[in-house]
Amino acid sequence: MNQLYSEKVMDHFLHPRNMGELPGANGVATVGNKQCGDVMKMYLKIEGETVKEAKFQTLGCGAAISTSSMATEMIKGKPLSDALKLTNQAIAEALDGLPSSKIHCSVLAAEAVKRAIEDYRSKGEGGK
Ligand code: FES
Repeated sequence: MNQLYSEKVMDHFLHPRNMGELPGANGVATVGNKQCGDVMKMYLKIEGETVKEAKFQTLGCGAAISTSSMATEMIKGKPLSDALKLTNQAIAEALDGLPSSKIHCSVLAAEAVKRAIEDYRSKGEGGK
C-alpha cells in the first residue's frame, strides 16, 4: 500500500526553504543515490564552529527536496557538533514521517550535511 506524504513534506516540497546556490559557501558537498539517481548538493557558510547559512540544490524526488529543505532549516545557526549529529531519522521526524520507500531520501540529506562539514574541515579553514 502506498503511504502518502505528510502535510509538512508537501509544504517543504512545494515551498522549499533555502534552495539555490550559496555564494561564498566554504563547505560544499554533492551526494547521490545510485539506485534512484537523485543528486543533492549542500552549501554551507561556516564561521568558526557555527553554521551561519545553509542552502541546497537537489535534482530528485519530492522527498529529496523536502528533506534537504528541512535539513538546512535544522542546522542553520547551530554549532557544527550539532549539525554533525543530525540523523536522517530526526529529519524524517521533523517532517512528520516519510513513507518507508522514501527513507533513503532523508539519508541523502543527512549525508550531504556531514560531507559539506567534512569539506569545510578538510580545507583547514579556521573560520573568519
Ligand atoms: Fe531517491 Fe528520493 S527517490 S532520493
